[in-house]
Amino acid sequence: MKVSFAKPGLPAKGALVVGVYEGKKLTASATELDRKTKGAITRAISGSRFAGKAKQVLSILAPAGTEANRVVLIGLGKAKGETKPVDFEAMGGALVGELATSGAREAAVAFDLAGEEGGIAAAHFALGAKLRSYRFDKYRTKEKPEDKPTLQRIAIHVEANRTAQRHYADLEQVAEAVFFARDLVSEAGNVMYPKSLADQCRTLGDLGVKVEVLGVKEMTKLGMGALLGVGQGSAHESQLVVMQWQGDPRSKEKPLAFLGKGVTFDTGGISLKPSAGMEDMKWDMGGSAAVIGLMRALAGRKAKANVVGIVGLVENMPDGNAQRPGDVVKSMSGQTIEVNNTDAEGRLVLADALWYCQDRFKPRFMIDLATLTGAIVIALGHEFAGAFVTDDELADRLIDSGKATSEGVWRMPLAESYARGMDSDIADMKNSGSRDGGSCKAAMFMKRFTNDVPWAHLDIAGMAWSAKGNAVTPKGATAYGVRLLDHLVRAYYEPK
Ligand code: BES
Ligand code: MN
Ligand code: ZN
Repeated sequence: MKVSFAKPGLPAKGALVVGVYEGKKLTASATELDRKTKGAITRAISGSRFAGKAKQVLSILAPAGTEANRVVLIGLGKAKGETKPVDFEAMGGALVGELATSGAREAAVAFDLAGEEGGIAAAHFALGAKLRSYRFDKYRTKEKPEDKPTLQRIAIHVEANRTAQRHYADLEQVAEAVFFARDLVSEAGNVMYPKSLADQCRTLGDLGVKVEVLGVKEMTKLGMGALLGVGQGSAHESQLVVMQWQGDPRSKEKPLAFLGKGVTFDTGGISLKPSAGMEDMKWDMGGSAAVIGLMRALAGRKAKANVVGIVGLVENMPDGNAQRPGDVVKSMSGQTIEVNNTDAEGRLVLADALWYCQDRFKPRFMIDLATLTGAIVIALGHEFAGAFVTDDELADRLIDSGKATSEGVWRMPLAESYARGMDSDIADMKNSGSRDGGSCKAAMFMKRFTNDVPWAHLDIAGMAWSAKGNAVTPKGATAYGVRLLDHLVRAYYEPK
């Protein structure tokens, strides 16, 4: 689906979209169209529950007095409220939700907000529309024509259309990156394994990202026994991918680092998961997809920042060669780990990735994303990622970025006492403790591999996949983290 911008003034045909404020107050364009259609809009509103609340949508089919086959009313919320960019994104998404499979092919939106601010708002409306239009349908060979999406183009008519266009050029790169990440997460486990995911990382080379791939040989040399132990039962070779975007080559600052858990399928290993719902574990690489998507977004919009992305890619399988519960592995940091549960594998992967990252890049901070624990889903549901952060300023910036993108972030505690639950009788630590505070224990486990570099761990187990979807996300892979971290970099770590 394509979104474009044009001068104010609606065409005579197709689907026409106009705004209505809360309390059924028509915008100028809505008033004009209401007059043209001899009151069809006011009549339709009076016969419905549409009141102009933000994200409400009402379609009026074939009103007289215009050649338009459909008029769509979109709720704008309070006229004098503080409608933020993220609210315009939700409105754009709601519009596509209404029209995507409605039979409408093109829609023209009268975006009545004036000035530069109106242009920027229109760009965010466009982003929300684009994000909602995502589909993963490469495996559907028998979809009925009447089930396929019809909407192909949206034109947004707005005074500051050049501002909107310029602003959207960057946001469109972010949307493309979100689509890329959603594709990676949606892909089936037999197709998406460590080497094929590493190949997807390599495609970022075209955008100027430097991509290095380490295999088992290189990781063995580095002593990454924690990561390698997880993958040793798989027929697929484990990989560690290092991506570097140098958007600000003259800067003397240390780079920003993002890391992702990339378990391309998590059976649990010998500590095998129950079969019900195990298919969900194809998206146990959602953290890595977010990091790969972020690198794509930053490179796509040529962000003025130096950023490292590292993803640990493994498949966790039960096998004659798989690691056993009770095995002891030595991590790259030198610390030894008793693997008392092979299903607590994500922290083992990130332990070596984090250590490698700080050792090689001495970054300003490290932020990891991981579908790490079922416990975080119990605690926070699907509204927020759990954020374990050693640095208050970084925590505030993440929470703020979450509000700005509607990718929620909720701060969780780090405390030494959680780590005590993972003391081992035979090694420096074990990889899993009792279930209470499971997400906090996992975080404290990984903290031991950060070497005190400022660090944030985002447990995204409840966020990587959405069974229901929301205004800007169809159900399925969300690519949670791409927009959040793109915003973080843009708002706080790039020159204005
Ligand atoms: N990938 C899972 C966590 C997960 C669960 C993600 C549900 C998304 C939805 C992770 O590797 C895992 O198995 N964690 C265990 C840890 C436990 C063994 C300490 C868990 O949460 O049960
Ligand atoms: Mn697991
Ligand atoms: Zn896992």
